[in-house]
Amino acid sequence: MTTVDKLEESLYLKLREVSESPDLEVKLLLCYVLNCTKEELVLLSSKEIPTAVENKALELVKKRLLGYPIDYIIGYRYFYNDKFYVSPDTLIPRPETELLVDLALTEINSYPPSKKNISILEIGTGTGCISISIASQLVSKHYSENREITFIATDISENALHIAKKNLNHLINDQSNTPFNFIHADIYTPFNKEENGLLSKQRYDLIVSNPPYIPSSRLKDLPSLVQHEPEIALDGGKDGNSLIKRIVEEVWPYTKNNSAFILEIYEESENSLRELLNEYSKNYNFHYKFLPDLTGRIRFLTLHRTK
Ligand SMILES: C[S@@+](CC[C@H](N)C(=O)[O-])C[C@H]1O[C@@H](n2cnc3c(N)ncnc32)[C@H](O)[C@@H]1O
Repeated sequence: MTTVDKLEESLYLKLREVSESPDLEVKLLLCYVLNCTKEELVLLSSKEIPTAVENKALELVKKRLLGYPIDYIIGYRYFYNDKFYVSPDTLIPRPETELLVDLALTEINSYPPSKKNISILEIGTGTGCISISIASQLVSKHYSENREITFIATDISENALHIAKKNLNHLINDQSNTPFNFIHADIYTPFNKEENGLLSKQRYDLIVSNPPYIPSSRLKDLPSLVQHEPEIALDGGKDGNSLIKRIVEEVWPYTKNNSAFILEIYEESENSLRELLNEYSKNYNFHYKFLPDLTGRIRFLTLHRTK
């Protein structure tokens, strides 16, 4: 039998070979096998670890050494301070996407206090991290009191939607002011035709999406960790913009005047998107902005409908 700190050291030496943050990954792994928090782990450091638990940790490290992401191994990832379940059917939420949540909250906070009904659509919800974090912030800041903020979130992957529902139920106890509908759909076309009725009646104030946006020809160059994530969550077609085009064209008829789209985009897509937006401006009335992430790379497109 070994102790927690000795096992921590030996796992660290192994993970150093494959991980950019071996220290963090070892802690995550040990918390997972010991079913404890990071704070509790510190207190356990000199304790003996049962052989079965040690073997479990070694088995999981083997998986990690083969290149499997730690988040899929332990089954969750923190996003906007909350613990989101993930699975190989979902993209692992990225820190830069937290800025999309901030942009959405800024947009919502700009609405006049008299606006009591707000409807939000997310396309490609994956784990649900964007919509659920928006809702969770609105609930915790009491913004949702005396208001109804409705969320419709679609995904083409039914398995991802199962994870999103699980996350919603574990993160938001009282959903009465922030009702959610998760819909299995290709962009905004539901696979279950009975849901057509529901969707055709909706008009949205805000559309958020982190769509797949990697140009198909670049998929093979992605880091090996990313290669384990679902291709459907990454592949943005020939120029990376194919889902973005579809979102604007297919969702526009369901938007309200003064509504906004907030989209995460590929850093190299700014020029091709500008061309596309110039084309769109012949048919749609809007103004738009490109915004950077914290590394200074262009990462978001916001589009405000003006008529
Ligand atoms: C980049 S992931 C984003 C997931 C999550 N919103 C996030 O930010 O972590 C894109 C998501 O879009 C979904 N998706 C891909 N094509 C779609 C389509 N045609 N209609 C709806 N969802 C789609 C994928 O299954 C995936 O969950």
